[in-house]
Amino acid sequence: MSEKATITLEGKNFELPVITGTENEKAIDITKLRDLTGYITLDSGYKNTGATISQITYLDGETGILRYRGYPIEQLAEKSSFLEVAYLLIYGTLPTTDQFDDFSKKITRHTLIHEDMKRFYEAFPKKAHPMAVLASMLCTLSTFYPESQQTNRPWEEVETTVHRLLAKISTISAWAYKNSVGHPVVYPQNKYNYVENFLNMMFSMPTEQYEIDPVIVQALDKLLILHADHEQNCSASTVRMVGSSHANLYSSVSAGAIALWGPLHGGANQEVIEMLQKIQADGGNYKKWVEKAKDKNDSFKLMGFGHRVYKNFDPRAKIIKKACDDVLNKLGINDPILDLAKQLEEVALNDQYFVERKLYPNVDFYSGIIYKAIGIPTEMFTVMFAMGRLPGWIAQWKEMIAAKEPIGRPRQIYTGETERNYVPIAKR
Ligand code: SDX
Repeated sequence: MSEKATITLEGKNFELPVITGTENEKAIDITKLRDLTGYITLDSGYKNTGATISQITYLDGETGILRYRGYPIEQLAEKSSFLEVAYLLIYGTLPTTDQFDDFSKKITRHTLIHEDMKRFYEAFPKKAHPMAVLASMLCTLSTFYPESQQTNRPWEEVETTVHRLLAKISTISAWAYKNSVGHPVVYPQNKYNYVENFLNMMFSMPTEQYEIDPVIVQALDKLLILHADHEQNCSASTVRMVGSSHANLYSSVSAGAIALWGPLHGGANQEVIEMLQKIQADGGNYKKWVEKAKDKNDSFKLMGFGHRVYKNFDPRAKIIKKACDDVLNKLGINDPILDLAKQLEEVALNDQYFVERKLYPNVDFYSGIIYKAIGIPTEMFTVMFAMGRLPGWIAQWKEMIAAKEPIGRPRQIYTGETERNYVPIAKR
């Protein structure tokens, strides 16, 4: 017999179905609540509200579990590759050799962007934030493939858009960087794999070919895997919301990129490094800044700390923290910012304010230290997050469309003025 929830409203009992997921998570299905009771629910920030049923990513915030399609993030980060994880998230299974070869070949074939798109770069101010450029260019891609703007197209057609997005995001991102520093863009090379191609487009110059370092390639590939999906986070929910109006996939992921840019979300990785540099410039007095983060009258937050879901260690932060030591040692880099980050973490994790609120380092706390060691400029950090998160956004959009979910349109409780009559200005 299926489980029910009973609520009592104005002396009357109402029964609502309970849904149980494969990891025994439970939800009260309120689809019929308003029809049954006239009531709606209210949950600012959706802290207690499930927006959908999904089979893509499972995370348990209390125990720090994260799995993509059932595979633990620790195993994927150690043994898989970003493109293989992208396939897993989008198609639901790990690819066979033939499937992977076909997928990666198709992506390699789509890395070029239309020459006309170069004119957009020239129009941006040099100091344009690369996230503004990325979000604009992702949506602009739809104008070069107008057929992608048609709704209800067969998956085979949408699949070409998937390949184009995964391929072109690295070219678009690298060119945004090149444009910001006034360097000529570097074209993709089919001889490189996904990460090598990106690094070459970022750092090669007409005067000097960038030397591909396997340590850096592996570190960046791992970071992309760790960012690939995270169930119904702010940007993925944005992609699903925008896609629910049947906006095309290019526009939906462009909206996701804009949501990710926020400093409370993916923009935090840039904020963390800027925060650490500020503390370093302030004589490294990290205890002073921890006190500022605790002060209700001070707007300062310890960026890279806290999470809506993780009330234990973010498993990605653990992996990235270890990778920091590995990568910096292998590259022979001694970055005092890493030591400062570890001291800050140590103090915060033993401070009652953070312990009571279960605030732990999240994915953004250490990632910037590796990006910095690779030579990626701070303003490009959230672009790196977006590159990693793109397959997750695509998988979430695909699942929402396949489920024929209705257009997202939340309700509200109105607390404004009750009816009143218009008064001509002369009489006000
Ligand atoms: C990402 O959702 C995802 O999955 C996101 C993400 C993904 O992969 O998609 O994991 C990526 O966005 C990670 C988060 C990156 N953001 C930051 O590092 C910014 C700093 N963190 C905070 O802004 C905050 O922790 C959030 C936004 C991450 C979570 O905010 P919540 O869940 O709305 O919690 P809250 O703001 O209500 O905080 C609860 C309490 C408050 O204090 P009280 O009012 O109870 O006294 O904790 C405090 C907050 O003031 N608090 C912090 C803090 N984070 C929360 N205090 C100081 N420093 C912080 N970083």
